[in-house]
Amino acid sequence: MQLLSHLCRNRLPIPFFGLAVVLLVSLASPTSSCTEQEKSSLIQLLDGFSQDGGLTVSWRSDTDCCSWEGIACSTDKTVTDVSLASHGLEGVISPFLGNLTGLLHLNLSHNSLSGGLPLELVSSSSIIVLDISFNRLRGALHELPSSAPDRPLQVLNISSNLLTGPFPSIIWKKMDNLIALNASNNSFTGRIPSDLCNTSPSFAVLDLCFNKLSGSVPPGLGNCSMLRVLRAGYNNLSGTLPDELFNATSLECLSFPNNDLHGVLDSDRIISLRNLQILDLGWNNFNGRIPDSIGDLKRLEEFHLQYNNLSGELPSTLSKCKNLIRIDLRSNYFSGELTKVNFSNLSNLKTLDLWLNNFTGVVPESIYSCSNLTALRLAANNFHGELSLRIGNLKYLSFLSLGKNNFTNITNAFQILKSSKKLSTLLIGNNFRGELMPQDDMIDGFENLQFLDMDGCQLSGKIPLWISRFTNLEMLILRSNQLTGPIPGWINSLSHLFYMDVSNNNLTGEIPLTLMEMSMLKSTGNSSHLGPWVFELPLYIDPSLQYLADTSFPLVLNLSNNNFTGVIPPQIGQLKVLGVLDFSFNKLSGQIPQSICNLTNLQVLDLSNNNLTGDIPSALNNLHFLSRFNISDNDLEGLIPSGGQFSTFEVSSFDGNPKLCGSMLVHRCGSAKAPPATILSTKQLDYKVAFAIAFSAFFGVGVLYDQIVLSRYLNLG
Ligand SMILES: *[C@@H]1O[C@H](CO)[C@@H](O)[C@H](O)[C@H]1NC(C)=O
Ligand SMILES: *[C@@H]1O[C@H](CO)[C@@H](O)[C@H](O)[C@H]1NC(C)=O
Ligand SMILES: *[C@@H]1O[C@H](CO)[C@@H](O)[C@H](O)[C@H]1NC(C)=O
Ligand SMILES: *[C@@H]1O[C@H](CO)[C@@H](O)[C@H](O)[C@H]1NC(C)=O
Ligand SMILES: *[C@@H]1O[C@H](CO)[C@@H](O)[C@H](O)[C@H]1NC(C)=O
Ligand SMILES: *[C@@H]1O[C@H](CO)[C@@H](O)[C@H](O)[C@H]1NC(C)=O
Ligand SMILES: *[C@@H]1O[C@H](CO)[C@@H](O)[C@H](O)[C@H]1NC(C)=O
Ligand SMILES: *[C@@H]1O[C@H](CO)[C@@H](O)[C@H](O)[C@H]1NC(C)=O
Ligand SMILES: *[C@@H]1O[C@H](CO)[C@@H](O)[C@H](O)[C@H]1NC(C)=O
Ligand SMILES: *[C@@H]1O[C@H](CO)[C@@H](O)[C@H](O)[C@H]1NC(C)=O
Ligand SMILES: *[C@@H]1O[C@H](CO)[C@@H](O)[C@H](O)[C@H]1NC(C)=O
Ligand SMILES: *[C@@H]1O[C@H](CO)[C@@H](O)[C@H](O)[C@H]1NC(C)=O
Repeated sequence: MQLLSHLCRNRLPIPFFGLAVVLLVSLASPTSSCTEQEKSSLIQLLDGFSQDGGLTVSWRSDTDCCSWEGIACSTDKTVTDVSLASHGLEGVISPFLGNLTGLLHLNLSHNSLSGGLPLELVSSSSIIVLDISFNRLRGALHELPSSAPDRPLQVLNISSNLLTGPFPSIIWKKMDNLIALNASNNSFTGRIPSDLCNTSPSFAVLDLCFNKLSGSVPPGLGNCSMLRVLRAGYNNLSGTLPDELFNATSLECLSFPNNDLHGVLDSDRIISLRNLQILDLGWNNFNGRIPDSIGDLKRLEEFHLQYNNLSGELPSTLSKCKNLIRIDLRSNYFSGELTKVNFSNLSNLKTLDLWLNNFTGVVPESIYSCSNLTALRLAANNFHGELSLRIGNLKYLSFLSLGKNNFTNITNAFQILKSSKKLSTLLIGNNFRGELMPQDDMIDGFENLQFLDMDGCQLSGKIPLWISRFTNLEMLILRSNQLTGPIPGWINSLSHLFYMDVSNNNLTGEIPLTLMEMSMLKSTGNSSHLGPWVFELPLYIDPSLQYLADTSFPLVLNLSNNNFTGVIPPQIGQLKVLGVLDFSFNKLSGQIPQSICNLTNLQVLDLSNNNLTGDIPSALNNLHFLSRFNISDNDLEGLIPSGGQFSTFEVSSFDGNPKLCGSMLVHRCGSAKAPPATILSTKQLDYKVAFAIAFSAFFGVGVLYDQIVLSRYLNLG
C-alpha cells in the first residue's frame, strides 16, 4: 500500500545520474576552492532568505563554498548541487542562482519560500533536477521565448505551491529530456499540454492533480510510450478518455478522480493497459459495465470507480486480478449477486467498499477468505441473510459497515462478531428490523470497539448491560429503535464515550445523574476524541468534507423523542465540553437549570416540546457558539433575554410558550392580556462565528439536531 502511493507519487528512473557522471568526468582542471563568483551567487541566495535555518553558521565567506552545508561540487570545484530541502527557509529564491553555470540539482522542497519562481531556474542551461515543491511560491510559470535553446531539465517538481495562471504548453518543447513533471496542488488553469511526448520520448511521470485545469484529456498522451504515471485528478476535465490514451501501454497509474469525465470503459481498450496497478476514475460520470477484460489487468492493485453511473453485475473475471488491495465501487448502480465473483483469489485485498449500490443476495462466503481484509463496507444494498461464522477468519477486520440491508438475527451477529478482536467500527443500522435487542450476559469481547451504530433497527427491549463492557466505546448510536426502560446508571462507566444518541425510542424514567458524570463530556483535558481519521474508510459522502477531517466529531448528547420525565439535573453544568444537547420531545418538567449557561461550547441546544416552566436564564446570552436554539412548546414565562446571542435566533425558537414575552414577540412585556405569542418577523440566521460555519458545513447546514442529517453525511446506514 505504502509502495503504491509512492508509485502514484512518482518514483523515478535515474538515468540522469549517468549523465551527471559524464559531465563530471569531462570537466577538467581541479582547483582548490569554488570561485568567488559562485560564492557570491550563493551569498545572494542566502540574502534572499528572511529565515535561513542556521545556514550562516556554515556559509562563511572565508571558507570554500564546496564545504558549505547543502552544497556539493564536482572535482573541479564547480557547484553542482544545492540541497536545502526541509531547512526551515523563508524569503525568496534569488534569480542569481541562475549564475551557477554548473548547477545540476537544486532541491529547495519543504520550506516556506515565497515570491515567484525565477525563470532563470526553469530556463537554466545546466539544471537537470529542479525540486521546489512544498513552498509558498506565487505567480505564473512563464513560457520560454521561442528563440530559447533546448534545455536539459529532466525533473521538474513545483507541486504544492500557490502558482496560478495558465499551465504552459510551449515551454516543454524546449525540454526534450523531460522525464517527470509534477505540478500538482497549485491553481493552474488552462489545459493539459498535448504534445509532451513528441519532444521528450522518455517522459514517464505527469502529475497535475489538484489544479483548475479544464478541457479534455489530450490524445497526444497516447504517444508517451514510457509514461508510467498519469495523474490529473481534482480538476475540471471533461469529455471521454481518448482512444489514443490506451496506446500508452506502459501506464502503471492512471488516475483522474473528481473531474467531469464520461463514457464507458471499453473492453478492447482497457485490455491494452496490462501494466496498470492503479486505476482511479472515481467521482466522474462514467457509465456502462465493468468489462470482462478487467481480469487481464493482472497487476491491478487499486481499483477506484466510486461515484459514477456504472451498472450491471461485477464480472466474475475480477477474481483474476489477484493483486488487488483496494476496491472502491461505492455509489454506483451495480446490481446482481456478488457470489459470481470468487473473492478467495484476492488474498491481498484490504478494503472492499460497495456502499450504495443495488447488490442482492447473500454475502459470498469467499469474501471471508480474504484474510488481510481490514475494512468491509456493504451498506446500502439489498443483501440479506445472517452473518457467517467465517467472518471470524478476518483477523484484521477493524471496519465493518453493513447498514441499510436486510440482514437478520442480530443475536447471532453479535455472537459471531465478538471473535473479531480488532473491530473498532461496527455500523449495522437499518437491519434486523423488529428483532429483540440481544439479551444480557451473552455478549462480550469487542474490547476495541469505538463506534457502534445500531440505528433504525426497530429493536425492542432495553439498553443492554453488555454495552457497558465495550469499555473503549466513543460513539454509540441507538437512534430509532423501540427501546424501553431507563438509561442505565452504568452509562458513565463508558469513560471514552463522547457521542451518545438514543433519540427516537420509548425510553422512560428520569435523566440519570450518572449521565452528568461522563468523563469525556466533562473535561477539556480529554479532547483527543476519535476523529474520522481513525476510520479505515472515509465516512464522508462529499470529498470536500474530507478536508474538514481535523474538525473531528462534535460532542453530542441526544435524548430527544423519548418519554423521559423529571427535571433537567442542575449537574448538567458539569458537561462543559458538550457541543450538542438535545432533550426535545420528552416530558421533562421544572426549570431550565442556570448551570446550562456554563456549557460554553454548546452549538446546539434543543429543549423544545417538554413541560419546562419558569424563566429563560439570561446568561444563555453568553453561549457564543450557540447557532441553534429551540425552546418552543414548553410552558416558559417571563422576558426573553435580548441582545447577545439571542439576536441571532429565529422567533419560532420561542413559539408555543404563551407566557413568554419580549420585544420580538407580539406579546410585549408589561401588557397583561396580550395575544398568544406569534411570529412577527423571521430573522435571518446570522452565524457569526467561523467555527459555527465550519461546523454547519460539517453536518450540512440546517437541521443540525436532526440526526438524520448526520446519517446522510456519514455512510452509516
Ligand atoms: C518531486 O517530484 C519528483 C518527480 O516526480 C520526485 O522525484 C520528488 O521526490 C518529488 N519531491 C518531493 C519532495 O516529493
Ligand atoms: C547573475 O544573475 C543576475 C540575475 O539573473 C544577473 O542580473 C547578473 O547579471 C548575473 N551576474 C553575472 C556575473 O552573470
Ligand atoms: C528533494 O529532497 C526531498 C527531501 O529530502 C526528497 O524527498 C526529494 O525526493 C528530493 N527531490 C528530488 C527530485 O530528488
Ligand atoms: C493509437 O491509437 C489509435 C486509436 O486507438 C490507433 O488508431 C493507432 O494505431 C494507435 N497508434 C499506435 C502507434 O499504436
Ligand atoms: C497479508 O498482507 C501481508 C503484508 O501486509 C502479506 O505479507 C501477506 O502475504 C498477506 N496475506 C495474504 C493471505 O495474502
Ligand atoms: C434495484 O434492483 C431492483 C430489482 O432487483 C429494482 O427494482 C430497483 O429499481 C433497483 N434500484 C436501483 C436504484 O437501481
Ligand atoms: C427482509 O427479509 C425478510 C426475511 O428474510 C423478509 O420477510 C422481508 O420482506 C425482507 N425485507 C425487505 C425490506 O426486503
Ligand atoms: C439466531 O442465531 C442463533 C445462533 O447464534 C440461533 O440459535 C437462533 O435460532 C437464530 N434465530 C433465528 C430466529 O433464526
Ligand atoms: C412507544 O410505545 C408506544 C406504545 O407502546 C407505541 O405506540 C409507539 O410507537 C412507540 N414509539 C416508538 C418510537 O417506539
Ligand atoms: C410515551 O408513553 C406513552 C404512554 O405512556 C405513549 O403513548 C407514547 O407513545 C410514548 N411516547 C413516545 C415518544 O414514545
Ligand atoms: C459555573 O461554573 C463555575 C466555575 O466553573 C461555578 O463556580 C459556577 O457555580 C457555575 N455556575 C452554575 C450556575 O452552575
Ligand atoms: C406539565 O406540568 C404541569 C405541572 O407543572 C402539569 O399539571 C401538566 O399536566 C404537565 N403537562 C404534561 C403534558 O405533562
